Amino acid sequence: MRSELIVNTRPKSNISENIRTVRTNLEFASASKKLKTILISSSVSGEGKSFISSNLAVAFAQNDKKVLLIDADLRRGRVHDIFNVKNPKGLSNLLLEDDMKEIKHYIAKSDIDNLYVLFRGTIPPNPSELLNSDKMHDIFEIAEEIFDYIIIDGVPAVGLPDALILSKYADAIMLVCAIKYTPMNALVEAKQAFEKIGVPVTGVVVNKVPNIKSNYYTSYYE
Ligand SMILES: Nc1ncnc2c1ncn2[C@@H]1O[C@H](COP(=O)(O)OP(=O)(O)OP(=O)(O)O)[C@@H](O)[C@H]1O
Ligand SMILES: [Mg+2]
Repeated sequence: MRSELIVNTRPKSNISENIRTVRTNLEFASASKKLKTILISSSVSGEGKSFISSNLAVAFAQNDKKVLLIDADLRRGRVHDIFNVKNPKGLSNLLLEDDMKEIKHYIAKSDIDNLYVLFRGTIPPNPSELLNSDKMHDIFEIAEEIFDYIIIDGVPAVGLPDALILSKYADAIMLVCAIKYTPMNALVEAKQAFEKIGVPVTGVVVNKVPNIKSNYYTSYYE
């Protein structure tokens, strides 16, 4: 099976170029304000959040930044599959510890230099409650000391509280949408959901654009 970490395996492809452009735009934005923690969300499921988060994390790591990718989708997170790791412990297990300094035992070093991953862990019965606990605050405080960038692979913002809960730790929110897939009204609804709680969306990543030699995303299958 072809690796989904396309920025690592096919750095010269259009899609890798475009993901590096997203990275550059975020880096420029970080010149004028603190921009360390980036939440990747979307409106509905399956638009490519995990794909974009993982590849964006690789892109930052390739730029000599120390990066932590957090799989905060405690419902169906699959970052461990993308990194080819079987049933790793992760965020949900860490949140059951008493002291979040234990994070060092839960962060996995990836095969890519500078890139570390906190996988999802065991699927818990109460994802939103776990994400809403004070322990999440401690986790981000510790992680921000250690890492240059933290990429959070989140969940859709429409219909679930998780992404809105996570947004309080993020300096930037990127919404992923997919061509011929994302309903426009759902994308608007997701944007408004963040705005309603006072956190503006930083940008939208358009994913799964057919390859017509455009400057936009292409399918990584091509
Ligand atoms: N640019 C792309 N080209 C082709 N396939 C893609 C692309 N981006 C994502 N996919 C595929 O689309 C599917 C959904 O992607 P992904 O799991 O990243 O979405 P998601 O938004 O994280 O979904 P969920 O809401 O379930 O967490 C996966 O099979 C993934 O491999
Ligand atoms: Mg996902």
